[in-house]
Amino acid sequence: MHRSSDLKFVCLCVNDFLFEGETARLVCRVFLHIRDGERPYGVPNQNGVSDLLYKSLAKPLLFKMDPEQAHHLIIGGLSGVGSVRPVPSGLRVMYGVRETPDLAVDMFGCHFPTPVGLAAGLDKNGQAVTGFSSIGFGFMEVGTVTPLAQSGNDQPRLFRLPPDEALVNRMGFNNLGAEAMAGELARLQERRIPVAVNIGKNKVTPNEEAHLDYAKCIQALYTYADLFVVNISSPNTPDLRNLQHGNELKELLAAVMEEMNRQQAKVGGAAKSVLVKIAPDVNEQELEYMVGTIAASGVSGIIATNTTISREGLSHQHAKETGGLSGKPLRERSTEIIRQVYRQTEGKLPIIGSGGIFTSEDAYEKIKAGASLVEIYTALIYEGPEVNRRIHAGLRELLRKDGYHHISEAVGADHR
Ligand SMILES: Cc1cc2nc3c(=O)[nH]c(=O)nc-3n(C[C@H](O)[C@H](O)[C@H](O)COP(=O)(O)O)c2cc1C
Repeated sequence: MHRSSDLKFVCLCVNDFLFEGETARLVCRVFLHIRDGERPYGVPNQNGVSDLLYKSLAKPLLFKMDPEQAHHLIIGGLSGVGSVRPVPSGLRVMYGVRETPDLAVDMFGCHFPTPVGLAAGLDKNGQAVTGFSSIGFGFMEVGTVTPLAQSGNDQPRLFRLPPDEALVNRMGFNNLGAEAMAGELARLQERRIPVAVNIGKNKVTPNEEAHLDYAKCIQALYTYADLFVVNISSPNTPDLRNLQHGNELKELLAAVMEEMNRQQAKVGGAAKSVLVKIAPDVNEQELEYMVGTIAASGVSGIIATNTTISREGLSHQHAKETGGLSGKPLRERSTEIIRQVYRQTEGKLPIIGSGGIFTSEDAYEKIKAGASLVEIYTALIYEGPEVNRRIHAGLRELLRKDGYHHISEAVGADHR
């Protein structure tokens, strides 16, 4: 049992800086009980504690900070995790998700212990793979990485819209470059989940030479990636989305596949998968053309979708900011795109669903529309890492209710 002087001391600190009254007392109790290895009074289980820690302690602190500083704090904290031996196991105890046969997926030449991954853009340089692997993700994307380091757009470039549970960002592929990411991934001691490297082009590279940038990223990172994602759908690099249309897409994907084959011949081993990440802001004809071209190119799958430039139904002042909108307002549109892609490809081209997933119901909706795996970003910011456990447990329950034994049986169920 902790001493009451301890409780008073921590209470004073927390009270002064962050919280008031009851919340402060609750936070202190949780802190002291965890320090003393006990279960806090009134908090029923481990899940409750970790959820409370994020919602009562970390989130209010992070949301008081500038969004980008908060982002750096998360990445900074999680990137240190790999080098301190007991920390990843501690995080796994707090936030890890136990692999279960009904939700584990084998696809793209990889084993996904759970079907919920971390979307691209949070770990731009692959610095926090061990940390993110420890908090319940079944896979993660690192990047978008470009051949050369670049600083991205001017700050501020990341905005919260709390009432809408959304974010607007115009980061502009700020990253340390492909060689730096290769160094980070080479240093990894163990890999618990598949790591997809999301690649893009430098801002200064004209679209006619974009294929060379994607090829350079593949050359630098082929050995370290479990799979690749070709990002042609960020709204924050001028003209990037034009690569989704016309002959440019065909030629780009041909160049990407050629480089993949070249690297496989050089390095050996089984062929690695390539996926293409698409935007939600396309009309039906554009999408049909895009999907047709992607399917014919020989890539292994599609990620649907990236952020949207639409601001429909938003009133928060940050809705006026230029950039890509993510989170809840994107959910329906990205699911609609998944539905169309699945229908057009008759379920033959696997889809990873991304956009506005906060709950197991959101994830299940995308799975039934046609997604084989899903990924999240904004929900992690609003809900904290406990969101992975909640989605996992909820998905199991939803499968069971519908009489399915494995997630693959639910994929595309809406179309049958
Ligand atoms: C701050 C921020 C940065 C992002 N950066 C990238 C990126 O570099 N590459 C990319 O493919 N997607 C990027 N995304 C898009 C996410 O990967 C994801 O597709 C999108 O946010 C929709 O998912 P969500 O609603 O769960 O956030 C970014 C999203 C956010 C919020």
